[in-house]
Amino acid sequence: MSIAPHGGQLVNRLLTGAALDKARTRAKSLPKITVEAYPAFDIDNIAKGVFSPLTGFMNAAQTRSVLDTMHVSPGIPWAIPILLAVSQAEGDKLTVGGEVAIEDDMGDIVAILHLAEKFAFDHAEIAEKVYRTTDPSHPGVQYTLSLGPVFLAGELDVLKAREVEFQEYNLTPAETRAAFAAKGWKRIVAFQTRNPVHRAHEYLQKCALEMCDGLLLHPLMGTTKSDDIPGDVRMECYTTILEHYYPKDHTMLSIMPVNMRYAGPREAIQHAIYRKNYGCTHFIVGRDHAGVGNFYGTYDAHYIFDEFDPAEIGIEPLFFDHSFFCKACGNMASIKTCPHGKEHHVFLSGTKVRDMLQAGEIPPVEFTRPEVAKVLIKWAQGTK
Ligand code: ADX
Repeated sequence: MSIAPHGGQLVNRLLTGAALDKARTRAKSLPKITVEAYPAFDIDNIAKGVFSPLTGFMNAAQTRSVLDTMHVSPGIPWAIPILLAVSQAEGDKLTVGGEVAIEDDMGDIVAILHLAEKFAFDHAEIAEKVYRTTDPSHPGVQYTLSLGPVFLAGELDVLKAREVEFQEYNLTPAETRAAFAAKGWKRIVAFQTRNPVHRAHEYLQKCALEMCDGLLLHPLMGTTKSDDIPGDVRMECYTTILEHYYPKDHTMLSIMPVNMRYAGPREAIQHAIYRKNYGCTHFIVGRDHAGVGNFYGTYDAHYIFDEFDPAEIGIEPLFFDHSFFCKACGNMASIKTCPHGKEHHVFLSGTKVRDMLQAGEIPPVEFTRPEVAKVLIKWAQGTK
């Protein structure tokens, strides 16, 4: 039997058939708001059950509960509020109890919001609790502080699934679940990433795969910060490394169209919950998961799981220490498994790697697979 979705049932808010036709007609006469890509991705994730059990945007009580207790309702862990914010002028035009048409960044009416509540919430408090800082140099804080003052809550009916790049890899939770069943996989480990796969990632994935039937390489492909490596470059890296170094029968590549929040520990909880909804039973959490700059301790994203009842989380986190290639060991290792000093470890800073790639140099094979490096060189030289 497959793992139960978060809250018990996979949510599906995508309208079809006659209900869709009726909603399309009705939407034309409703008050309309236009949203950017960020909330549009959230809408899509609510529609397809990635955010199960959420059926819409959170209200004030849910937001309070998520911030203060990391639960959206009793027994249901949730660490980051899912909010829809608009300007005061837009908010004033909308009536609680009514319906609102939502147009996305591509100009399509994508959803109808059943407006149940309008509320204000202290943006700085949201930032402080989610990101553990109000420093505006943190990309998540910056985004939160830029939001409009009126939050709109209510259930969504979704008229159109969001089309993304690499649509053929954009499997919904229902589709990954069906794919796992078809492959006969029972223990499935998911790997979250917003980077190309380097040797440390590969080590974590393969250690986990030794204990599981299948690996879901599940890169995040929602909005990311502008200096992260672009999605198309990453996709080429993923398909390349899979082709050369991974067993086809035990590996699957699919994308997760969720926004990156850079919330470190709280985001690790969310990342695990989303993968549970996709049908995975295990989730890898390494060093500084979903971190940015020096905002989080190296293992804060491990410790946060201790604050929950494992049965409530449902999916099993697999924690990994900082990993690297050790020349004295002659293999990949971590601070837990390697007795040698740092001088034996292959460590390259991000700046050093970028400089090498821009110069057309392949970084050491202990750091990255040469086939992946070649893809990155092509990209880095274009960014010079
Ligand atoms: S993240 O923002 O998606 O977490 P990244 O793509 O770098 O960033 O990491 C993907 C996963 O690999 C995360 O679980 C992260 O903790 C882990 N990770 C990355 N590098 C290492 C490393 N050298 N050692 C151990 N874990 C790592």
